[in-house]
Amino acid sequence: MSKNLNNKVDRDEVLLEVKNLSVTFGERKKKFRAVNDVSFKLYRGETFGLVGESGSGKTTIGRAIMRIVPTSGGEIFYKGERINGKISKELDKKVIKEIQMIFQDPQASLNERAKVDYIVSEGLMNVNKGLTAEQKKDAVEQALIDVGLLPEFASRFPHEFSGGQRQRIGIARALIMEPEFIVADEPISALDVSIRAQVLNLLSKLQKDRGLTYLFIAHDLSVVRFIADRIGVIYKGRIVEIAEAEELFLHPIHPYTKALLSAIPQPDPVAERNKEIIVYEPKSYPEGALKWYKFSEGHYVLADADEAKEYGLEGPYDEI
Ligand SMILES: Nc1ncnc2c1ncn2[C@@H]1O[C@H](COP(=O)(O)OP(=O)(O)OP(=O)(O)O)[C@@H](O)[C@H]1O
Ligand SMILES: [Mg+2]
Repeated sequence: MSKNLNNKVDRDEVLLEVKNLSVTFGERKKKFRAVNDVSFKLYRGETFGLVGESGSGKTTIGRAIMRIVPTSGGEIFYKGERINGKISKELDKKVIKEIQMIFQDPQASLNERAKVDYIVSEGLMNVNKGLTAEQKKDAVEQALIDVGLLPEFASRFPHEFSGGQRQRIGIARALIMEPEFIVADEPISALDVSIRAQVLNLLSKLQKDRGLTYLFIAHDLSVVRFIADRIGVIYKGRIVEIAEAEELFLHPIHPYTKALLSAIPQPDPVAERNKEIIVYEPKSYPEGALKWYKFSEGHYVLADADEAKEYGLEGPYDEI
């Protein structure tokens, strides 16, 4: 597996910006804040890894960007235009086409009763109703070829495929729209270990060939290490640390990041046996005590004033 050294990240162009995003579920007393004041930017051509444990709000952020869940605070901008809340028909059409999602579970996310042809072309037909049967067929076959599948698979049903092939069908369904931005929600978590690298490599290649930008969601830091340019670590609905991928591995600051890093399996059996797993002890903070502090260029940590001092951080900063 190779790191994305060749993809061109344009740090001058912010493709997507999530600003102070909050998402709550439930009513009044049972109100639950799944995403709490989350901010990050994605530059064109980069892969931003969003990492955190189960229930930390990763999928909810992805779904908020896809406009599947309503936001309760903050804003999401795509190419400088706000896309959450009420938006124009024109922008809606553009976003439906340009922003696509790849789902975690290829078993659950494909309609079992539909043929691959229908599954892959459904979104395209919705935005392009004038497409002829011939054009549709060509587009589906090309999308299948692009993800390493045979064009004749179009006439088969999902149950005839392995997990890895099914995930490729899910990727074809996204690619056929010619998207610019893809939310990949744990795209390899449900796959056999032996085929994970193949799917990761496919995603890397597609990014390189098409200049795609990815939000890559994972619960494991070892996965994003190889694919992400930058990483945001999320804990209980809040991003707690954000940095370039290598920088985060070299200089983890937040105790939760350290805990996640300590849990990564080591290839060397001796190291694996002797490794010390750090357990994160959550603290409670008074309202408003947590702010952004800077460790180095592009490396920010959410901390209170005492912690910032202890870790030798600069700040606080209102925006990162
Ligand atoms: N539609 C919903 N209604 C109510 N609560 C929800 C809804 N969707 C998500 N939640 C809750 O919001 C929190 C965040 O969920 P989310 O699915 O975003 O987590 P995640 O980080 O993607 O977890 P995982 O790694 O398990 O996929 C969880 O506590 C979840 O139970
Ligand atoms: Mg999830």
